[in-house]
Amino acid sequence: MTTLAPIGATPQPGSTTKKSFGKTPDGQPVDLYVLTNKSGAEASITNYGGAVVSLKVPDRTGKLADVVLGYDTADGYVNDKSYFGALVGRYGNRIAHAQFVLDGKTYTLAKNNGENTLHGGVKGFNKALWTAKILPAKDGQSLELSYLSKDGEEGFPGNLKVSVIYTLTDTNALRIVYSATTDKKTVLNLTSHGYFNLAGQGSGDILGHLLTIQADKFTPVDAALIPTGELRDVAGTPFDFRKPTAIGVRIDQDDEQLKLGGGYDHNYVLRPGVQFYTGNFLDGKTPGKGGVAYLRRNAFCLETQHYPDSPNQPKFPSVVLNPGEHYHTITTYKFSVEK
Ligand code: BGC
Repeated sequence: MTTLAPIGATPQPGSTTKKSFGKTPDGQPVDLYVLTNKSGAEASITNYGGAVVSLKVPDRTGKLADVVLGYDTADGYVNDKSYFGALVGRYGNRIAHAQFVLDGKTYTLAKNNGENTLHGGVKGFNKALWTAKILPAKDGQSLELSYLSKDGEEGFPGNLKVSVIYTLTDTNALRIVYSATTDKKTVLNLTSHGYFNLAGQGSGDILGHLLTIQADKFTPVDAALIPTGELRDVAGTPFDFRKPTAIGVRIDQDDEQLKLGGGYDHNYVLRPGVQFYTGNFLDGKTPGKGGVAYLRRNAFCLETQHYPDSPNQPKFPSVVLNPGEHYHTITTYKFSVEK
């Protein structure tokens, strides 16, 4: 059962509480929702950008660690350029030359990454104030965030109604359910930009973390990190994570694709895809939680998504959403320990 505890109360297992997190630049209040599951794990989520601010899960001894990078106040998220924990839309990753064609009409988008559009444009969903509602959930604590992205926002067509339901389950999974509808044909690719460090945020790099990605192929990129259109076999390359492999063992190999990304910054081909990003652009300049400087490769991201630049790549799976259709995807990050 979800109960709304009084502001300022210490979170109790099996509860969701709400507290103030600061203000937007135009003075609107920003909230922080603390979801505590029955086993004591805790996810804090703000309605500013829908960001997961902290995620405290137990290690093998039962000790909780906060495994995501973030900021202590709303201001951090207002100024953020790394998309820490944020909801990303309308289009996760890049759209080349900030444009695409739908039914013969060219749509021009906001450019925010050289000539290209990254993560929805200058004011993506990560900079929106979402409407939050605590929902009853059978298997944990749930928070629904809704946002109406108006026709033409950042250049995208259609009034798009988006709902994201976060659930921290009682078995220590963070489930994210994305839904959307549009009143005009559009393109859509929603994701969540969590930066994970399973040793705890602020504890250094993630090069020793073991990673498995069950993908046979990835999408190589050009110098602007736009896919070339090729689906390349991971076999025999440093991109092969089909067996558990430490993230850092091959990251600095003399490989053209690793050089272009400054490390891993590539989409793996699943159904549909996942962007594996090793925080190569983190430079420690903006202090994070507790004043920690997050440096290069101090976290990794696994952003479930469609392939980058799909609106311009006819061979990639379609990202078109039509009026009357219901966009619906689910991503679950499950935390467990080996004893
Ligand atoms: C992209 C990176 C980008 C990062 C932060 C990732 O999803 O692939 O190239 O630097 O997000 O914006």
